[in-house]
Amino acid sequence: MKALVLAGGSGSRLRPITHTFAKQLVPVANKPILFYGLEALRDAGITDVGMVVGDTAPMIEAAVGDGSGFGLNVTYIRQAQPLGLAHAVLIAREYLGDDDFVMYLGDNFIIGGITPLVEEFRAGRPDAQIMLTRVADPRQFGVAELDQTGEVARLEEKPRQPKSDLALVGVYMFTAGVHEAVRHLTPSWRGELEITEAIQRLIDDGRKVRSTVVTGYWKDTGNVTDMLEVNRMVLESLEPRVQGTVDDATELIGRVAIEGGAEVRSSRIVGPAVIGEGTRVSGSYVGPFTSVAQECAITDSEIEYSILLRGASISGVRRIEASLIGHDVEVTRSPRVPEAHRLILGDNSKVQITP
Ligand code: DAU
Repeated sequence: MKALVLAGGSGSRLRPITHTFAKQLVPVANKPILFYGLEALRDAGITDVGMVVGDTAPMIEAAVGDGSGFGLNVTYIRQAQPLGLAHAVLIAREYLGDDDFVMYLGDNFIIGGITPLVEEFRAGRPDAQIMLTRVADPRQFGVAELDQTGEVARLEEKPRQPKSDLALVGVYMFTAGVHEAVRHLTPSWRGELEITEAIQRLIDDGRKVRSTVVTGYWKDTGNVTDMLEVNRMVLESLEPRVQGTVDDATELIGRVAIEGGAEVRSSRIVGPAVIGEGTRVSGSYVGPFTSVAQECAITDSEIEYSILLRGASISGVRRIEASLIGHDVEVTRSPRVPEAHRLILGDNSKVQITP
């Protein structure tokens, strides 16, 4: 069995971070979201991974390499444009051959991995196996309608008027039968070849499509709110450790990880929180569910329930909450006079200011 991991696409809902950065590489507890998926595939006994990449290919390749660091054998498949999930299957036809495969969306986070699902698929080998979960706003997802016996009757991608609240999770399992269904697709109203339509085709052709309804199992990390929530969940099981330097005037409370080369002075860090390699924290409060990446600086500030990317710095600011702060961003206190906010923000930035 192989895996097809989708790490292309545009990441429009995570702009401006994704203007210059692959959304699958945004870190959760200081590890790219994509790595959790790769580890889940490996743990399920899969070693051959086809990785679909787009414009951000160099970044993904630099991070993942040949996959040996994960115990995987990764082959890159270049997708010239993000023409849809089924388009990714189409261009991976040769790589996949006639093998069964797991299709894994690189920005999805599956809590607890996928091993039981892969085992279930291997045992029964339906033509397709999908996972469904109840969501508050189904319009943002592929949505399934079940018949009285609980079988999937109909699937619709991003419906304006959803027929249920059951969303498709971004992990699908297929036998080679899906290739025939994909070959006949035409672009949807949003110009993409939809995997949802390929699965509908399998259903219409009387093929076996098995679905499992799961709870508390999955997060699409396409937007900042979900990203922060996944970060919270991963930090819940953080191993406390102090590899960097912490002075006597600092208080570490709860599960806190201070990575090698990090330096914390006169601060209060309330876990779960992780402070990345080479980061300096001084005179500050870092609150629960915060991941501070490598080479950041937090000085005379307060921050909690947030993610800071590599090289970000915060100085003299109280208090930052529920924020995603990009690479090398600087947040500082403005001088007393004039009393004004001074902002240099990239396109699509979002700022909320407390007067
Ligand atoms: O997250 C679950 C949802 O994922 C499902 O409920 C939907 O049925 C499914 O279509 C998909 O919807 P999204 O709109 O969230 O997909 P997105 O465009 O974000 O792409 C998912 C991943 O696949 C992401 O890591 C980018 C990558 N991708 C996407 C496209 C369209 C590619 O590699 N190539 C592509 O052409």
